[in-house]
This record gives sequence, structure tokens and C-alpha cells, in this order.
Amino acid sequence: MNSSFKAVPVTEDVWWVGAIDWNIREFHGYQTQRGTTYNAYLIMADKVTLIDTVKAPFKEEMLARIASVVDPARIDYIVSNHAELDHSGCLPEVIAAVKPEKVYASAVGVKTLEELLHFGGILTAVKDGESLSLGNRTLTFLETRMLHWPDSMFTYLQEEQLLFSQDAFGMHYASLERFDDESDPAILDYEAATYYANILLPYSPLVLKLLERVTGLGLAFRCIAPDHGPIWRKDIAGIIGRYGKWAAQKPEAKAVVVYGTMWHSTEKMALAIGEGLAAGGLRVKLMSMDAVHRSDVLYEILCAGALAVGSSTLNNQMLPVMADVMTYLRGLKPRNLLGAAFGSYGWSGEAVKQLEEILTEMKVESAGEGIREKNAPDDEVLSRCYALGLKMAAQVKDRL
Ligand code: FEO
Repeated sequence: MNSSFKAVPVTEDVWWVGAIDWNIREFHGYQTQRGTTYNAYLIMADKVTLIDTVKAPFKEEMLARIASVVDPARIDYIVSNHAELDHSGCLPEVIAAVKPEKVYASAVGVKTLEELLHFGGILTAVKDGESLSLGNRTLTFLETRMLHWPDSMFTYLQEEQLLFSQDAFGMHYASLERFDDESDPAILDYEAATYYANILLPYSPLVLKLLERVTGLGLAFRCIAPDHGPIWRKDIAGIIGRYGKWAAQKPEAKAVVVYGTMWHSTEKMALAIGEGLAAGGLRVKLMSMDAVHRSDVLYEILCAGALAVGSSTLNNQMLPVMADVMTYLRGLKPRNLLGAAFGSYGWSGEAVKQLEEILTEMKVESAGEGIREKNAPDDEVLSRCYALGLKMAAQVKDRL
């Protein structure tokens, strides 16, 4: 066992015993440019309890951190808040090594863990609102279905007012700083928003309901301990407030222009639309899919009011880079956007219509018919693109 891996104290009886994945750069299509952590937490109550585990290759790191506090064989209970494999991948091996008295998960969690890892019926289901005594400490479970898996739940440690929130309020950020007040706030703002946009965005209506429910329960939070990134102990109201804002998806005076181009004709149109949007009073982000990653696009769209998408046509299709980002966008369901499509083509020019169809599926409100032009745009075409940008800006400002 590597004794350089130590647990980090969170509150009197709670220790962070997770693992740091400095080098992961891809998470199901989301570029994790700063790596991540898989957080697990040890509660040194009468019943020693482990909250969540880590991705399978990081089992030894987690066990070494636990061993810096207590012999892992003394763990009585394990709680699995979320069955996804970055938090449960090593669970079968940990159970075999530790032989806990009980392993708890939500009812859907038990089913999902069985389907993923085949435990043979040893897991125990807990109900929404149920409490579990650890002797001198008490856990309460709150189901958070579809945030972001059907099995997901929160666990609240009553006596220490600590919420174990699994993926919610987390971020992909590998660091040795374990708490928000030790970390660069600009990085936390960016990575928490990027995480929300790339993971939780489609479930925003449920996030709003959950925030309402938690407020209604009157729970106090001394710490919010997510399964990725730093633990919130200072800016708790701030991160809850930001979740409320992101989930509401209230548009801001901002537009994002996303495009793919072959010989820069579609790019010239994108630039002209961007100039019009800016002249109309919006903040504008131009994003060539040859230069940015799809997860950067989601970060920019999170609070935008308008989205213009452009593509050249290649073999009767939109460019592959645009098909990629549009598929990703369609799944993540950004709301309250005004949109338009544009593109240059050489032969047949189907891309603009294809983009418009996806915008319609995404329930993006149309700002008007797209601009589709053959070969290189002349000044008349660029003037129309500029005018489209101006028109979109005016429409967005009317909706603010
Ligand atoms: Fe971090 Fe949904 O797993």
C-alpha cells in the first residue's frame, strides 16, 4: 500500500478518501481539460461508513487513504449514491476486501448496480426520506432521480450538516486543493458551469424541483461534498444560486455562432452574422468547430440567448464537425434560444436545411429563414448576414 496517499479531514468525523485522476481528458464526449477527482468519504461514526467508491483503477489509492485513518476492514457500511462506474467500478473488489455488514443504495441503484456489476443480491435498498443510524450519527437519503441517472441519490449527515451530493455541484478538476476556499475561484466558476452544461443541462427542470424541495426541507449545509472536484464549505449559497440560474436557463444578451467551413466562405458568413449580433448589442462568441471542442460550445451556450449555426455542404451532408456538435447539442437540450442557420455550398447545399431541422427538434425558436448561398459570399450576401445578426440581436433583447 502506498503510504503517501493520505485522507483529508472534512469535518470532525468525516474524511475525504478519494482519488485524483490527473490525466483523464475525455468523459463520454466531454473534454475534461483539467482532469478530475473521484471523491469518496469515510465517516468515522460508531458504524464506520464509506460514502461512494472510485473508478476501478484507483481502488488502491482510495484504500491507502482510508488506511491512513482506519483499517479498511473496520468499515461497517458502504453507501452508493450513484451507480455510474466512476463511483462504483471498484465496489465489488472493495466489498470482497472489506466484507462490510451492509451496502446501501436507492432501489433503482440496487437494480442498476446488479445489472452493471452482478453482486448476487447482497445490496440493500433504501427509500427516499429514510434515515439510517450509524450509532452516534444519522444519515438521511434523498432520491434525486435523473440527476443525472435514474438511481442517483443524496445522503445527508444530519449531525454535521454535510450533504454528500454525488455528481451534483461537482466539476472535473484534478487538484490537491480539497476545498473551494483553497481553490482559484475563476477555475471553479468555469469548471462548475462547464460540468453543469455538459452533464446536467437536460435535467434542468428536475434541478429546479430539487432545489425547491431542499429549500422546503429547511436543511442547513455546513459542507456540500460532491463526487468530483472540491468540497464546498465557503461558497455554498453561491453554488446553489448558480445552479438555480443555470437550471432556469434565463437567456442573457449573448449569442454564440458555431460553424464548420471548407474554404472559408461559411466562415465569412459567420463573421458577418457575428458583427451584426455585436452591433445589435449582444456579447458574441464565434466558434469554429475546427478550433474548439464541443464541450466548450456547451459552456458558452449555457446562458446565451441566441445560437447561429453554419455549415458548408459536403457530399449532400453538413460537415462531420457540425454533425458532431449538433448531435451533442440535441441531446443536452439547451432551452430558451433563438436560432438561425447559414452556410455556403458548391453543388447542392443541403446543410442549411439539415441544421434547421435539428434546431426545430431542439425547440430553438427560429429567427427567420436561414441564409444559404452558392460558393463565396459577395458583399450583398454578407450584408444580409449582418442584417440577420442585427435582427437576431433585436429579438433576443425583446425577450430579456
Ligand atoms: Fe461521476 Fe455520473 O458519474
